[in-house]
Amino acid sequence: MTASEIVSYEPATGKELWRGKVGDVDAAVDRARRAWPAWAAQPLATRIELCRRFANEVRKDFDKLAEMIARETGKPLWEARTEVESVIAKVDISVTAYAERTGQKKLDSALQGTAAVRHKPHGVMLVLGPYNFPAHLANGHIIPALIAGNVVIFKPSEKTPATGELLMQCFNRAGISAAVAQFFVGGPEEGKALVAHRGVDGVLFTGSVQVGIAINRKLASNPGKIVALEMGGNNPIVVIDTPKVTDAATLIVQSAFMTAGQRCTAARRLIVKDSMYAPIVDEVKSLVSRLIVDEPFADPAPFMGPVIDNAAADQLVESFLYFLSNGGKAIRHMTRPNDDLPFLTPGIVDTTDMTDRPDVELFGPLLQVIRVKDFDQAIAEANRTRFGLSASLIGGSPQDYNRFWANIRAGIVNWNRPTSGASSKAPFGGLGLSGNHRPAAYYAADYCAYPVASTEMDQPRATIGVGLSNG
Ligand code: NAD
Ligand code: SIN
Repeated sequence: MTASEIVSYEPATGKELWRGKVGDVDAAVDRARRAWPAWAAQPLATRIELCRRFANEVRKDFDKLAEMIARETGKPLWEARTEVESVIAKVDISVTAYAERTGQKKLDSALQGTAAVRHKPHGVMLVLGPYNFPAHLANGHIIPALIAGNVVIFKPSEKTPATGELLMQCFNRAGISAAVAQFFVGGPEEGKALVAHRGVDGVLFTGSVQVGIAINRKLASNPGKIVALEMGGNNPIVVIDTPKVTDAATLIVQSAFMTAGQRCTAARRLIVKDSMYAPIVDEVKSLVSRLIVDEPFADPAPFMGPVIDNAAADQLVESFLYFLSNGGKAIRHMTRPNDDLPFLTPGIVDTTDMTDRPDVELFGPLLQVIRVKDFDQAIAEANRTRFGLSASLIGGSPQDYNRFWANIRAGIVNWNRPTSGASSKAPFGGLGLSGNHRPAAYYAADYCAYPVASTEMDQPRATIGVGLSNG
């Protein structure tokens, strides 16, 4: 049985925040299909202008949207504000990306006439969003899809529908109709039905690997549907020789615990060279002991808020205990100050001696530490995962970084920078279980339009030069 309503709760207080009726899948797709031809026929300049007006609507609603993101996800207000800034910046970035990646091109042609490459929209694009960046990540699909001439049905996570609704209202107030940029309320069941719907031409998914695989399976016999899967990671941050221990520890803490560890690019595994182990672990411990974990609007401002809900908090505490009962050694215990709310203090566990480390994404403030004897072992350890989203090297020389870059299997490889905080001006995607080779962010343009190659002459003109008899 499917629910007829979706209810979202504030993680920091447990209070109900929003409630809405589940949408009608057939009606939503029908509405989108009917709206598509007129939207696709608009000049590109008009679609861009409307997206710029959307950015202005977001500017007007900046505080309201930031507060809603903070309340609905539990992330600190200062961080929610950076998410809204990314939403605004996405428009100009996507306009440039569209022109660069999918604009029109005239080719040199050996034939008379012209040869050209142009791009066309797919049609009705379904955007399925995650809860951790409920505005920015969905918007990262929606804007490029609209610019390219697609219409969009956006189903936010059932945990963050209120943010999704505010975002879509900005599109609608900007003059992009609710049929072209459509807000859809639903959970996994509606997600499944939308994915499989014949009237949906593309699925742009950001979420967990389990759901990404389920979508891939569902569409296995439907290769014509464009599917972009942006999934999780089990990301390594590797520390080798560096005199800058405090900076290294800061990068580790930012990578692992920002957003309460609920970033797909968060560092899950700190791989540290033997000689650096003691100073790095001591410094990380000391920094973590000073991190403020509190509700999003608290004063002083917290570094991190709660995780999304009690079920996620329970699972993370269980994972921490699993490590301890399977050979892991606690460096810093993960604690749950209030059993009724999903606040967690960061947990750090040394799993060097575990024979079988689970290669799963633990989506929260839980960091494993693995001690290695040298750089070769560090690289091997970093690659010991089926995921491949982000990786970072801290310390070492330019030659070390070249080796790291060349040998690490991930879509984001950084040096002396956090594993997270990816730029919207670069492609964003992963290998293995992290994605399906359709990176988002700057390269989102690629999956929002397909190329059409043409050779063209204004009149039919042709001769057969060889093989004709004289008669
Ligand atoms: P999720 O996979 O549980 O849900 C994502 C969306 O899919 C939601 O809208 C949900 O309702 C929908 N859904 C669930 N089951 C479905 C099904 N069977 N068919 C169709 N749709 C379905 O993800 P989440 O828990 O909301 O988000 C956290 C996850 O997202 C983490 O794994 C994180 O790593 C990942 N993530 C990835 C990126 C990236 O760009 N690579 C960015 C942010 C988050
Ligand atoms: C995310 O999308 O979850 C994180 C993006 C980033 O910080 O790199």
